[in-house]
Amino acid sequence: MRNFITIEGCEGVGKTYQTKLLRQYCEERGLNVVFTREPGGSDIAEQIRRIILDANNNDMDDLCEAFLYAASRIQHLKDIVKPALEAGKAVICDRYVDSSYVYQGLGRGLGLEKIVRLNQIAVGEYMPEFTIFLDLSPEFAFKRKGGADQNDRMEAVGYDFHLKVYEGYKSLIAADPSRFEVIDASGTKEQTQAKLREVLARRGIFK
Ligand code: TYD
Repeated sequence: MRNFITIEGCEGVGKTYQTKLLRQYCEERGLNVVFTREPGGSDIAEQIRRIILDANNNDMDDLCEAFLYAASRIQHLKDIVKPALEAGKAVICDRYVDSSYVYQGLGRGLGLEKIVRLNQIAVGEYMPEFTIFLDLSPEFAFKRKGGADQNDRMEAVGYDFHLKVYEGYKSLIAADPSRFEVIDASGTKEQTQAKLREVLARRGIFK
């Protein structure tokens, strides 16, 4: 879908920080770009996010979790993404279907095919024009961050899970390289930000 861009990456890659800087850059220049994130991003979707990420919900069934991510995605598309695209704006979304493919399909082991099917139902034609992958191995990311935040259900799952997620992203990229822009995120924050801006400028998003 034209002008719909998603950003993906493993925990601790600096995605939130980089997206915040990008947003400031766009605001200062009056660029017509909407920044949003998943899970959540709109009122009802944020309520679903709280259920998914609540550390008290450790007994949540993996498939239930996959459906909740998809449910949050449907609502967020309706509330934020579709209206913005229809108004001619670009949308940059922090996480989208690829997160479900790798976290639920591969990390949790539900199987990629099942999660792809579920998400086809959820998003229909609303697939990103391209996806930026901030590339940093979990080993590097965990060291940089100084360990996981145990209060967050997703972040408490441990290193092996994140390694599966990272390898999952790599296999998605290998299977469909033209849909991804891979950015090496192992340098300084400034270097990563410069690379992000270069990609978005080259792709015609900063008009
Ligand atoms: P968040 O605190 O927003 O993490 P991050 O800054 O790393 O994006 O929490 C989002 C968590 O939800 C993150 O661990 C990835 C996970 N997630 C999935 O497992 N499946 C999904 O479809 C999405 C969108 C996120």
